[in-house]
Formats: sequence, structure tokens, C-alpha cells
Amino acid sequence: MKENDFLFGVATASVQIEGGAFQDGKGKSVWDYYSEKGGIFRGQNCYTCCDSYNRLDEDLALIKGLGLNAYRFSISWPRIQPLGSGELNQKGIDYYNRLIDGLLAIGVKPFITLFHWDLPLPIHEQGGFLNRDLIVERFSEYGKIIAELFSDRVEMFSVFNEAAAIIDFMYLQPVGKIESAKTQQEAFEGVHNLLLANAAATYSLRKYAKQPVRIGMVNCSNLYAPYTESKEDIEAARKATFAISDNLIGSTNTFWHPIMFGEHDKRLVEKFNLDTSFIRDGDMDYIMCKPDFMGCNVYNGETVRADENGNPVLAPHSLNAVNYSMGYDPAGMAGIAYWGIKFMSEHFGLPIYITESGTDLPDLKDRYGKVSDPVRGEIIYRYCSNLLKAKDEGIDVRGYFAWTLMDNFEWSSGFTRRFGLVYTDFETLERTPKQSYYEYRDMIDCYKKTGKLM
Ligand code: BGC
Repeated sequence: MKENDFLFGVATASVQIEGGAFQDGKGKSVWDYYSEKGGIFRGQNCYTCCDSYNRLDEDLALIKGLGLNAYRFSISWPRIQPLGSGELNQKGIDYYNRLIDGLLAIGVKPFITLFHWDLPLPIHEQGGFLNRDLIVERFSEYGKIIAELFSDRVEMFSVFNEAAAIIDFMYLQPVGKIESAKTQQEAFEGVHNLLLANAAATYSLRKYAKQPVRIGMVNCSNLYAPYTESKEDIEAARKATFAISDNLIGSTNTFWHPIMFGEHDKRLVEKFNLDTSFIRDGDMDYIMCKPDFMGCNVYNGETVRADENGNPVLAPHSLNAVNYSMGYDPAGMAGIAYWGIKFMSEHFGLPIYITESGTDLPDLKDRYGKVSDPVRGEIIYRYCSNLLKAKDEGIDVRGYFAWTLMDNFEWSSGFTRRFGLVYTDFETLERTPKQSYYEYRDMIDCYKKTGKLM
């Protein structure tokens, strides 16, 4: 395999694995606040999680054992700048330096997410994404800080992970109902401000980077595959992929259309009766910050067929569909990997990384000390083989990041949903690689040797 030919990675997020919430000068994030206020399932909290902050060497060994060539992780902003403004925290910075150096030492490319949801609490208290001037200024500085600290060794960045989720858990459906929900119009203004903040951090990263960097945006993508390969079904699936959903933030176009085409999708503005008079001159040009790639987090997808007018309608599920909490079957998912990526690539023209894909299963450690999760391994296999099929046909897809390295803190669901390749005992913090860990390792190894997964 040529170096960096195709990245096989895993992805994680600071809040979900690090713990050390009050250690070494870290400031509070909104997730510490949600935890404190009882917003998490059964009063659980994110204070310890997998304790990766104190178990870095053990986790680097797990990364090494997979044979990955990339690792996507996020920086906890309040760990390196406790208040989200003002002084930096050297101990927090040291942690990420050790992580980055540790990855490079084992030949793994670091991919930094600047913001996987842990907003420093003081910024939230001043209005967060609803406070335009503040959020843009803070992200502009944060981008500069990250570039100055890490871009000598890191070349891949994304400012945000899943803009839609941020607007959702902070404003539309606030975690634990601790705060009151905002209106659609307020949330839309939050979307606009987030896009400005994305651009602000992107421009800073480019300006202060110590080497040429690549910066993308990572969003959740609801992708669709055609039921049959007829022209009509293919067009219906394409239409569904770029349609405006019934949820303000639920469409691919809510975030991607303004970044790529410099306007909010008119259909969205019309459907939700949005007032756009708050938008200032020059905003839309600023938002178009020319991402170098598109990061797609893919957890859901559907198969559609064309009705008599060529419009997409949901196709019946296979009678062999495997039902589990993410709500799709592995075979369907695989088709979505191929078609969804093809549509996205043709529409937006950017190189694509699958920056997350995975599933939670009711994993347990059995009486022999093993964790068997054949469904997860099979999903990864089917998914990646379809991705590689797209790549072989010339679609510019450059990598796959499994979500996630180890079972962790699943946001407001606490510790009830296991997505990891490694089983975490949340009482003892012991890590046990699952069957899927070894399967993914073998696929990567085989690909390196033969260009195929098996
Ligand atoms: C998020 C992860 C989360 C995963 C599973 C993605 O939307 O980026 O942080 O754990 O979904 O729910």
C-alpha cells in the first residue's frame, strides 16, 4: 500500500474518553455542567469516563495493536484554555503533545477535531452559539492557538464535529431539559453563527499553520441508496440525499449548502419560514471557507425507490434485516456506503472521509473473559468493502474511521450504549479488545498486503 493511500482509523472524542474533568487545571465544559445538573441518564457523569487522561500509554498500545494509519481525536478546549479565553494551561497542552508524539512514534497520522462538543462553560454562559460576536471571536482565537501548538506535527483538522448535534443538544432539545428549548429561528441563527465560527477557525488555522494543512468539516450525513439500480431509483435516492427534512438541522444541505455555495438553502428558509434579515453583508462569502475535504459521520441510512412521479419513497426492508438500535441492517448499510458517498462526491466535489461509522450493541464480557460482537465486525467489513468499491471506481474517498476505539461516555445516555472495538469495564476501567477489534486489525493488515480486506 502506498503511504496514506487509504486511511484506516478509529475516532474518539475528549469528553467521551478522557475523564480527568477536574485534573491539572482543566476548566469546566458544558458537559461537566450537564453532569452536575443531573442531565445525564440516571445521574451519571463524565468526570472519569475511560480515564484516558491518565491511561494514555495503555490506549496508545491499543491503537498500535490495530495497525491503524490514522487516529481522529478531539481537543478538550477547556483543558488547554480553561475559560475559553485568556490563559492557556500547560499541563493540558502537555497531554496532547504526548498523545500526538505517541501517535507519530507508532506511524499513526493524527487528525484533530477542534470541537467535539465540550464548549468552555463561560462561553456558554455568555450565550454560546447564539452570541454571534463572541463565538466568532473565540473560535478565531482558538484556531490560532491550535495551529501554533500542534500544526508543526499535525496536518489534518476539522473545526466541528457534527454541527447539527451541537445545535440540537444545546438549543433545540437541551440536554436533560436543564435549559428551555429555543425557537427554530433562534436555532437557525445559531446555525449561521456556527458556520461563521467554522470559517473563523479555518482561516486562523490556515494563517498560523506551520506547514500546509488540510481542514474539513465533519457532519452527520443521512444517506440513501437506491432500491434497485434502475435510473429512476438512483435519481430518487439522489433526490432524497439532498432533500430538506422535517427537522431544521436534519438535512445535509443545512450545513453543506452554505459552505459550498454561499447561501442558505432557499427551500430550508421557506419551509421553516426563517427570517434572514439578521445576516450581515459579507457573511455568506466568509462562510464559504473552501474546506479541503468533507467528513461524513454515517450512522443511519435508508433505501428508497421512485414513485410514479420520480419522487423517493422508502423501500421495504429486507426480511433478513437485522434490527438493532441504530435501526438498519448491515447489508443495507453497505449499499449506503457506496451510493451515499457517490452522491455526496458528485454533488459537492470534495474528497471524502468517513469520519465516523459504527454501532452500539449489548456487549458483555462472557464467562470465558471474551467479548463476542460478530455483528460489529461484519458491519465494518461490508461497509469498508463498499467504500473501497467506490474508491476503485474513481470516487475520491480517502479513509474510514470506525466509531470508536473503546466503549465510552455516550453523552446524555451515559454509559448505557457501547460502540467500542474495545470493551471498557466502567467500574474497574479495564479494557478488553472485542472480537471486532481483532477482525478490524486483520482487515487492515490484509489490505496493506493485498489491497483487499480478506
Ligand atoms: C458522535 C459521537 C457519538 C456517536 C454515537 C456521533 O454522532 O460524533 O460522539 O458517540 O455519534 O452516538
